Amino acid sequence: MSEAHIAPAPPVTLVIFGATGDLTRRLLVPTILNMTQSGLVNDSLTILGIGLEPGDDEMLRTKLEEFLTSSNIKANYSDEAWHRLRSRIFYFQGDFTQDAIYAQIDARLNADTSRNAAFYLAVQPRFFGDIVDKLSDHGLLTETDTSFRRIVIEKPFGTDLASAKALNARILNHVSEKQIYRVDHFLGKETVQNIMTARFANMMIESLWSNNFIDHVQISAAEIVDVGSRGKFYDGTGALRDMVPNHLFQLLAMVAMEPPNSFDAEAIRDEKGKVLKALRIYSAEDAAQNSVRGSYAAGPLNGNALPAYAETPDVAPGSTTETFVALKLYVDTWRWAGVPFYLRTGKAMTARDTEIVVTFRQVPFAQFKGTGPQRNLAPNRLIIQVQPDEGLHIEISIKSPGLSVDTVPISLDFNYADLFDIGKLTGYESLLYDLFIGDQTLFQRADSIEAGWAAVQPFLDLWAGSPAKPDTYLPGSMGPQASDELIERDGRKWHQPDVMHRVKAKTP
Ligand code: BG6
Repeated sequence: MSEAHIAPAPPVTLVIFGATGDLTRRLLVPTILNMTQSGLVNDSLTILGIGLEPGDDEMLRTKLEEFLTSSNIKANYSDEAWHRLRSRIFYFQGDFTQDAIYAQIDARLNADTSRNAAFYLAVQPRFFGDIVDKLSDHGLLTETDTSFRRIVIEKPFGTDLASAKALNARILNHVSEKQIYRVDHFLGKETVQNIMTARFANMMIESLWSNNFIDHVQISAAEIVDVGSRGKFYDGTGALRDMVPNHLFQLLAMVAMEPPNSFDAEAIRDEKGKVLKALRIYSAEDAAQNSVRGSYAAGPLNGNALPAYAETPDVAPGSTTETFVALKLYVDTWRWAGVPFYLRTGKAMTARDTEIVVTFRQVPFAQFKGTGPQRNLAPNRLIIQVQPDEGLHIEISIKSPGLSVDTVPISLDFNYADLFDIGKLTGYESLLYDLFIGDQTLFQRADSIEAGWAAVQPFLDLWAGSPAKPDTYLPGSMGPQASDELIERDGRKWHQPDVMHRVKAKTP
């Protein structure tokens, strides 16, 4: 990653609650190492880890070094970068439910010249409120004209509408919205950030971007991974809560938002918020009609025998938690009236494939009648491939060479990796840099979080009140049969991952 033209972030202490946990070693530290090497942060960044584990600075440094080495992450960076960062990592052993540790943190921050601090809550969600209360009680969240205090919260932000509202109210009781950085890691992905550029920097795309020309939109996030060792977390969560009101809705908001007046964070967050607030809130009956939930059965996956979801360690016997969900939603705005948004996500599926497929309306067909074997023109599609193989594909019809007018669909393919050296990004670089410089564009605002939960609440209520089990699907498939039926009864089909956007013209 070369970021020579971007100024390094201002001095800051990143205080990480949960410093010996997975998020810190797998994402936060590798990201900061990457940023150290590329000059996005310099020696004025300090990491202060907080954890229960006994030990001192050297304990945390050694533990992180061992992990970075054994996971081959360290090999991507120079020793010089690691050693510079290593010496800036500190550790306080302490219990964040008790007062003592906060006094220690306060003393440390007061000794800093900048006194800027970002508190990263890399802990279980049930502690978010308690930590913010304590930070506030100890005066740690008070900003001055020259120093900032920010809080970073990972998802899940609440487990339903009521709990999200309660958490927002509790936190906003102590700090202003400007100090809260709610992470949705999908917003750190390059292709997700590119959605706005693809739309608003290209008249060719944006001028067609409405119900006048678009038939429907599909947003899929398929994963090959199964629930594995995450049974404890996942069984109380399920595919809907885990992926929809956050990640998939962020993609949907980017696709459906109106052009913001500027690239100012609030202008963008206003427009995204309007989309999420315009999501149709279903009655129980409509929620049942427009949703499918699935749970994977036992079967082979990647050459291994995968037990059924309900047999996964730490999953309650007879669990009705879903590992797959498909929804048909509407954004009730002038631009999107009548355009269905089909969303689906699941574990243990055919492919790892996160994509947005925008299908345009058919052209009037008349003039092609009887002109060749191709009776049904393929509709134009724009496919935003979020991961893997980040890129953008435009499917159009062309005439195949020859005497007859024979139309064939072809795909104009752009793959990021073909044109750019995208290096080894963790996906958190832009999130952390923006946190340090105080740009909230890529973070979720309270109103959007609540609007997202409001739109999924009817499905949560429906399933909570139903003895029915999710439909089963085979590992390595694209979900239960009912998911295909959900879209096929509208005369449409799910886009097949990695098939259509690789279609090339047949050579005659
Ligand atoms: C997380 C979910 O937020 O996102 C996981 O909790 C999911 O269950 C993950 O696997 C998907 O993220 P990515 O970046 O791997 O697509």
